This record gives sequence, C-alpha cells and structure tokens, in this order.
Amino acid sequence: MNNNLFETVKLGNLELQNRVVMPPMTRSRTIEGDVPSDVNAKYYSERASAGLIIAEATQISLQGQGYSLTPGIYTDEQVKGWKIVTDAVHAKGGKIFLQLWHVGRVSNHHVNGMQPVAPSAISAKDTNVYVMKNGEAKFLATETPRELSVEEIHEIVKDYVSAAKNAIKAGFDGVEIHGGNGYLIDQFLRSNSNKRTDEYGGNISNRVRFVLEVTKAVVAAVGADKTGVRLAPFITAKDMGDPEILSAITLAAKGLNDIGTVYLHLSEADFDDAPEIPDSFRIDLRKAFRNTIIATGRYNLKRAQYMLATDWVDMIGFGRLYIANPDLVERFKNDGPYNKLRAEGWFGGNEIGFNDYPSL
Ligand SMILES: Cc1cc2nc3c(=O)[nH]c(=O)nc-3n(C[C@H](O)[C@H](O)[C@H](O)COP(=O)(O)O)c2cc1C
Repeated sequence: MNNNLFETVKLGNLELQNRVVMPPMTRSRTIEGDVPSDVNAKYYSERASAGLIIAEATQISLQGQGYSLTPGIYTDEQVKGWKIVTDAVHAKGGKIFLQLWHVGRVSNHHVNGMQPVAPSAISAKDTNVYVMKNGEAKFLATETPRELSVEEIHEIVKDYVSAAKNAIKAGFDGVEIHGGNGYLIDQFLRSNSNKRTDEYGGNISNRVRFVLEVTKAVVAAVGADKTGVRLAPFITAKDMGDPEILSAITLAAKGLNDIGTVYLHLSEADFDDAPEIPDSFRIDLRKAFRNTIIATGRYNLKRAQYMLATDWVDMIGFGRLYIANPDLVERFKNDGPYNKLRAEGWFGGNEIGFNDYPSL
C-alpha cells in the first residue's frame, strides 16, 4: 500500500505533492467588503508545500455570514481579492480549494443586518459569534433564527452554485462544501436542530436531502473532480449533540459517493471537543465512500502515519500546527522542530499571530 504522507497522490485530476492538508481555518483578516488581500496571499502561499490547502470558510452570500471580517465569494471584489491568493499559491506550486459556508442559525443581525435563518426556529444554546462594530470586537450570543421556506432553501442551493462558479473564476482548484461544525448544512442533518415536517426533515433520508441537493448542484456547475464536502460526525459544540448523527452521516456519505464527490473531509475536532472515533465508524465510512477521505482533528506526525497505514483515510489535515508552522511539511520530514502556537491573533487583528511565524 502506497500511503506515505510525503508521496504524491491523485485527487480527481490533480496530482498533489503529498498527503498533508491545511484544513480551513477562519482568521478574520479581510479588508472592507469582506475581501481578501495581499496579507492573505502571503499567509496561504507560505503554506503552499501542503499537498492541499483548503482556504478558510467563506460566505456564499451576505445571509450566510455569521462573524465579522470573514471573507465572501459573492461579489466581484471578493473574486478579485481571492485571485491574488490563488495566484500566489499556484506560483509556489501549491493547490488550493475554497470552503463554501452558510452559517444558518450561527449569526446575529449585528453581523449582517439580518435575522439568522435555519431549518427550524431553534436557537443554538451557549453559542457566540464575533462581531466588529465601530472598530470594537465583541462576542454576541446567536439569535433565534426564522425557519426557511422551501423556496428559500432552493434559493440557497443556487447561492452555493454561484459561489462555486465564482471560486473557480477566482482561480481555486476546487471547492469544499462546509457541511460540518454546526452550520447550516449540519443543522439540516441533525434531529435536534431540524424539526421540519416537509421533505427536508422528519427522518434521516429527508435530513440528508439538503447536503445532497447542494452537492449535486455544485457538481453540475463545476464538476465532481472539483467538489469536496466536509462533515463533522462527532462534534457537539454549538448545541449540536444528536443521537442519530452517525447514521445520517453514513447515509450522506453513500449519497456523496454516488454523486462522485472527489473527497469527504472529516472534521474530527472543532478545537478540543474530540471524542475517540470508533474503528467501526471508519470502516463503515470507507465502505460508504470510495473516493478520497481526509481526516483532521488533533493529529501529529505519528498519529497521522498510524492512521494512513490503516487505509481508512487517504490524507490528513493539521490545523493549529499549520497556524504556527508555515513550512510544516519540511518540519515533518525532520520531525521538528515545531514553532509553538501562541494565544494571540487566531481571529482578527494584524500580522501578529498570522504572518509572523518563521519558516526553518
Ligand atoms: C482558528 C481556527 C479557525 C477554524 N476555522 C474553521 C473553518 O473556517 N472551517 C472549518 O471547517 N473548520 C475550522 N476550524 C477547524 C479546523 O479546520 C480543524 O478541524 C481543527 O483545528 C482541528 O484540527 P487540529 O487539531 O489539527 O487543529 C478552525 C480551527 C481553528 C483553530
């Protein structure tokens, strides 16, 4: 079995330099209009030796935004800003996808002037969003969303499609549909946040309908080879505990496999809320989904190599290690030394904690 972390690997039509993934990480450093710029190009291009970079969650519409300063991909300026980033990454031989994001209920009207929307009018308990008002950063509780009509759900599917087309226009090698971490698609998947009685709720096959419709539409627009999906079977943050989630995710994985989705990216931890993942789930998932599986969540070099040897996953993402180590691949090859992640500058701010971690 050829599953060395450092060897080239095919992803659809792309040949990747290695099996190391930089997973999507919100860094909240855009300029006016939620537009990325040179600082984002520097940050991503310094990490271009990853086999695949998945750029941070990016709202597909103003309605899909839940935090201040996160980038969008629905205006011409945003497309132009992202083009600076993709050009810089490609110039260094890297490959980069964009994560497409609709937050659903994880928002507050102070972010975008709108009441949040969701499958059902149920708020996420103990969940806050980051809001920047008049130069001041605050965390505000999420607001009770209003329930989406079926017509609005169809409109959101179209928003994903135009965002995906814009991402390709901006030079991305593909898109990742964000179906995890408690945001809109995840809210449809789970019985606690989805109490709908129409074709989008009520049983597991109805709850997976939305993610499959979005993915089918995006695949039709930009191609299956350019469409990945992220799902989060084990997270419970943002009030997402759900007894039926594993069956829903396995069913979704089968559907995504049938659509030809190029990869399934498991979000195994949204920070440190990470339980042990049973081998039985990984084996079931491998049976359900035959293309590339990426796993991210608290991996280090040793755990990554162990997991690749099982053949249950094909590529491994390293989040916080990538914040602190732009040249993570080179450092892995020597097994260190690693820069220590500092507490400052994860979300928002200037170059500190963003573009000031040194390479070897
Ligand atoms: C600062 C920060 C921002 C994140 N933003 C996103 C995001 O935009 N989209 C997403 O799917 N996950 C996001 N995550 C989760 C990461 O992709 C990853 O799953 C998590 O950090 C666990 O991996 P790690 O233990 O290797 O850091 C974020 C994590 C961090 C630390």
